[in-house]
Amino acid sequence: MTVPAVVVAASGGGSNLQAIIDAIAAGSLNLRIALVISDQPSCGAVQRAIIHAIPVCAIPYPRRATAAQRIAWEEQAMSVVHCFAPDLILLSGFMRILSSETLSQTSVPMLNQHPALLPDDGGDDVVLPDGRVIPALRGAHVVRDALTRGLTVTGCTIHRVVPQVDRGPVIARATVEIDPADTEATLHARIRLVEQRLLLDTLHQRVW
Ligand code: GAR
Repeated sequence: MTVPAVVVAASGGGSNLQAIIDAIAAGSLNLRIALVISDQPSCGAVQRAIIHAIPVCAIPYPRRATAAQRIAWEEQAMSVVHCFAPDLILLSGFMRILSSETLSQTSVPMLNQHPALLPDDGGDDVVLPDGRVIPALRGAHVVRDALTRGLTVTGCTIHRVVPQVDRGPVIARATVEIDPADTEATLHARIRLVEQRLLLDTLHQRVW
């Protein structure tokens, strides 16, 4: 069986990247990380790639990027990504929104990890398995938003990337109960543990 090549795009600590690295090393995931690409040269994900001798490309993203700089960054990044001929591009804590032009120029499947629950229909509500309805949280601060809104449950979602941000078809999701004593850090730490399992299952089943 061929070993799929994945490019991981990351901006943060890279705990999900590490989960993939560890699963491949343990023989429980038949995958090859072809490249780690980042907009944050000093982030943890880049360091993890270096430590594990994974090809890495970090292109600093300009502060207050203009539209032209944003397009230039995406063109550079995607030209590098395509050199590695990936079967999958995984946005794993990648904190940039790719333009619809860039998305339309790649035929490689692209998945995003989102640290909150998203619905199947791209709508504004999520119906939980027990019938409770909670708001779909979108954007860059959804762990904080779950606490601010006083939710008692949140979770994580893996979805296909489409031009409409955080609205692509859902591949998998899992719930995480919120403890009244949770801070953003403690809640996100628990979400990360759940989403790592969800990610490894998704990659193992090759549903992309
Ligand atoms: C994950 O929780 C992921 O869902 C989230 O960033 C974290 C990355 O953690 N993604 C987003 O917020 C995308 N908008 P990690 O760097 O430890 O893997």
